[in-house]
Amino acid sequence: MSTSPSPTTRPSVFQTRRQFIQLGLATLGAAWLGTLLQWRLFPSASAAQEAQPVSFPLADLPVGGTKAIAYGGVPAIVVRTPESLRAFSLICTHLGCTVQWQSDKKEFYCPCHDGRFDEFGDVLAGPPPIPLEQIPVRVEGETVTVGEV
Ligand code: FES
Repeated sequence: MSTSPSPTTRPSVFQTRRQFIQLGLATLGAAWLGTLLQWRLFPSASAAQEAQPVSFPLADLPVGGTKAIAYGGVPAIVVRTPESLRAFSLICTHLGCTVQWQSDKKEFYCPCHDGRFDEFGDVLAGPPPIPLEQIPVRVEGETVTVGEV
């Protein structure tokens, strides 16, 4: 007489395939949420440690133009209007997608969830909870410096 259990009565941690899948999805969700919370709670701590000022000639940025840079390891942009120079992180404040500058509308657009920001980085529409991160800009002579010195 055989004493081994039949395949249908073998003990298992998971009673059903559905439980296995649910646990897997819950684990992935928890990992994703943990990463998101870390990024949201400490968004600038790591960037501030790595961010080095970025300098370039003022002539590289005509009035009405933009200049893409990397600041603190993330994409950023400097926008020059007749009135001012402003620099922004291009990381959306909703879930971290990269926003795009739309010069014809003078807006930043986030394609992930249709977030929109005005030329000052303030939220116009969509789910972003706060404005884009603005980065200090300084002009000395003919040199533009982005970031704290
Ligand atoms: S990540 Fe930009 S609107 Fe959601």
